[in-house]
Amino acid sequence: MKIAVLPGDGIGPEVAAQAVKVLQALNSEGLKIEMEHATIGGAGYDAAGDPLPEATLALSRAADAVLLGAVGGYQYDSLPRPMRPEQGLLRIRKELNLFANLRPVNVYPELADASTLKAEVVSGLDIMIVRELTGDLYFGQPRGIHVNANGEREGYNTMRYSESEVRRVAHIGFQIAMKRNKKLCSVEKANVLETSELWREVVIETAKEYPEVALSHMYVDNAAMQLVRNPKQFDVIVTGNIFGDILSDEASMLTGSIGMLGSASLDQNRKGMYEPIHGSAPDIAGQDIANPLATILSAAMMMRYTFGRDDVADRIENAVKKVISSGLRTVDIYTAGTTKVGCAAMGDAVVAAL
Ligand code: NAD
Ligand code: IPM
Ligand code: MN
Repeated sequence: MKIAVLPGDGIGPEVAAQAVKVLQALNSEGLKIEMEHATIGGAGYDAAGDPLPEATLALSRAADAVLLGAVGGYQYDSLPRPMRPEQGLLRIRKELNLFANLRPVNVYPELADASTLKAEVVSGLDIMIVRELTGDLYFGQPRGIHVNANGEREGYNTMRYSESEVRRVAHIGFQIAMKRNKKLCSVEKANVLETSELWREVVIETAKEYPEVALSHMYVDNAAMQLVRNPKQFDVIVTGNIFGDILSDEASMLTGSIGMLGSASLDQNRKGMYEPIHGSAPDIAGQDIANPLATILSAAMMMRYTFGRDDVADRIENAVKKVISSGLRTVDIYTAGTTKVGCAAMGDAVVAAL
C-alpha cells in the first residue's frame, strides 16, 4: 500500500500525524504500508514556490492513495490566486480526476449531546453525502474580476456541468444507495439554474438503471433547512461541488463537530485522496487541541475504498468508537463529565484501542 502523505498547513500536520501513527501501528502488525511525505498548500508554496509542487503531484500519482491534512492560512490570503494554498488542493483533485467526494455523516451515540441540535433529532443519524468534486463554479470558465462597461469592478464565475460529469457522479450516488437503504436525494436548484435543470434530467435518466432506488429531488435551500429540521429523512444525498461543500459543513454539526467528518475523493478506479472535510483551522493551529478523528476516520475510508480492506477499516472505526465510549474528548466535542485531551493524546488513545 503506497500512500503519499500531504500534511499541508495549520492543524493539517497535527491531525495528519495522528492518522500516520494509526497506520504505522497497523504496519507493525504486518500490513505493508509505505508512506512518503510531501508538501502541499502554503507549505508547498514556502518550500517550492508552488501550492502543488511537481514532486508532490508525481508522488501522489505514483501512490495508490493520498492522505491529506488541510491547506490554507491567513499569511497566504493576499497571494495571487494561482499561488494560494487552496489552488494546490483544487489542482490535485482535478489532476487525479477525483470527481466523487464521499462525506459520511454519522452520529456516535455518546456524542448526540455534543451536537448543537437536540439529541433526539440527531441520534442514530447515518447519511452519506456524495459531492461532485471536479466541476461546477469551482472550475467553470470564464471567471475573473474585470472592469465592466460602467467602469466598475465586476467579479464573475461560471456554474457549469456537462452531462457526462453529472452522470458519473450520479452513478456513484445510486451505487452507494443500493448498498444502503436505497434512498437517494438529488440536491440542486433547478427552479432557477439551467445547470441544475440539466443535473436533474441526467439524474432521472440514470435512475432507470437503478429501479430499486427511491429517488427524490430537493432544492438546495430546502435541503439546508431539512438537514437541521429532520436529518434522519436522508440516506444518500448527491449534489454538485459548491452545494456539497456548504451542506457537508452544515451536516457536520449534527455529529457534534466538523472535526469528526472524514472524506474519500475517488476516481473511476478506486484511487483516492482521503482528507478531513475541515480546513487548516488557523485559529487553533499549533496548540495541540485539534480533533484528529476526522483524519483518522479518513484513513479508515482509505482502507475500505482504495485497498478493499473492510476488516482494517472496521478496526480503525471500532478503535475510534472505543475511545469515544471511554470518555476522551478534544475540546470541540467536550461535554461535562467527559475527559479533555489534546490532539496527540487522542491519536495515542486510538492506537492503544486498535
Ligand atoms: P476551518 O474548517 O479551517 O475552521 C472552521 C472552524 O472549525 C474553526 O473555528 C476551527 O477552529 C474549527 N475546526 C476545524 N477543524 C477542526 C478540528 N479538527 N478540531 C477542532 N476544531 C476544528 O474553516 P475556515 O476557518 O473557514 O478556513 C481556514 C482555512 O482553511 C482557510 O484558508 C480555508 O481556505 C482552508 N480550508 C481548507 C480545507 C481543506 O484543506 N480541505 C477545507 C476548508 C477550509
Ligand atoms: C473543502 C474545502 C475546499 C473546497 C477549499 C479549501 C478549496 O472547503 O475541502 O471542503 O471548497 O472544496
Ligand atoms: Mn469545505
